[in-house]
Amino acid sequence: MKNSIIDVRPLSPTVGAELHGVDLAKPLEERAVLEIRDALHKYGVVFFRDQTIDKAQHLAFTERFGPIKGKSFLGTVEGYPMIGEVRKEPDQSRNIGGDWHTDHAFIANPPLGSVLVARELPAVGGDTMFTNMGNAYDRLSDGLKKTLSTLRAVQAKRQSFKPDAPADRRVDGAEKDKIDQQFAQYEFTHPVVIAHPESGRTILYVNPTYTVRFEGWTQQESAPLLQYLYQHAVRPEFVCRFNWREGSIAFWDNRSVMHYALNDYHGERRLMHRITVEGSPLAAATV
Ligand code: SIN
Repeated sequence: MKNSIIDVRPLSPTVGAELHGVDLAKPLEERAVLEIRDALHKYGVVFFRDQTIDKAQHLAFTERFGPIKGKSFLGTVEGYPMIGEVRKEPDQSRNIGGDWHTDHAFIANPPLGSVLVARELPAVGGDTMFTNMGNAYDRLSDGLKKTLSTLRAVQAKRQSFKPDAPADRRVDGAEKDKIDQQFAQYEFTHPVVIAHPESGRTILYVNPTYTVRFEGWTQQESAPLLQYLYQHAVRPEFVCRFNWREGSIAFWDNRSVMHYALNDYHGERRLMHRITVEGSPLAAATV
């Protein structure tokens, strides 16, 4: 963009860009906010490097993009109930977000996005991967696009504990029954092909963590097509991988990307602060 405040450096042609030229500790002028929003819509996730922001500045920056989402499944930072902790301790085997997902796909208004700030990092590992579901949709055949445009999918929190989930989050038997009951209210049906609420871009909206089945189809009937869509969406050339450093911040658009937090740093602490922006209902795209 001519006379831009922000220097946009894409990490790949379809997903992820580093944004340079702004200090997020200071109040941003409106033009900078617009440029960040534009980059977010284009690349699905934007990254900032070498930033030093405290908790209040993290909140102030995130609030420029919409109202903050209050309730979280995460533990929160003392004195800052709006800041969720994405924490893994050296003695823990399970991490948060360790499979492809979009956050809170199982509620009526999934979040607009999240701003994740690195607070403590392992010496090596703990990267996060992102894929752009607008690009994944664009790269399907016209025939499959047409079929998918007629479908809706059931999304449920309990699905993240399914028997074929990654080993560190798999549960069955009595434990599974307890989880099914505990999370029964967190279930919602969304269109499989949505129009992005702000940019209008057409997006494939299914993910392996929360999508249970297509509405009106059994789980068994749904599984082959869902599996095809998942492996298509995470083809290596569709994905970017972000290597966190001290001072790194990621801001993802939760309607247009899936993300995956790698769990490859056992025995070390990783602590991130996450603030989430409220979302809106998801409407089917007109294809
Ligand atoms: C998440 O899924 O929100 C966690 C992402 C990360 O820790 O990199």
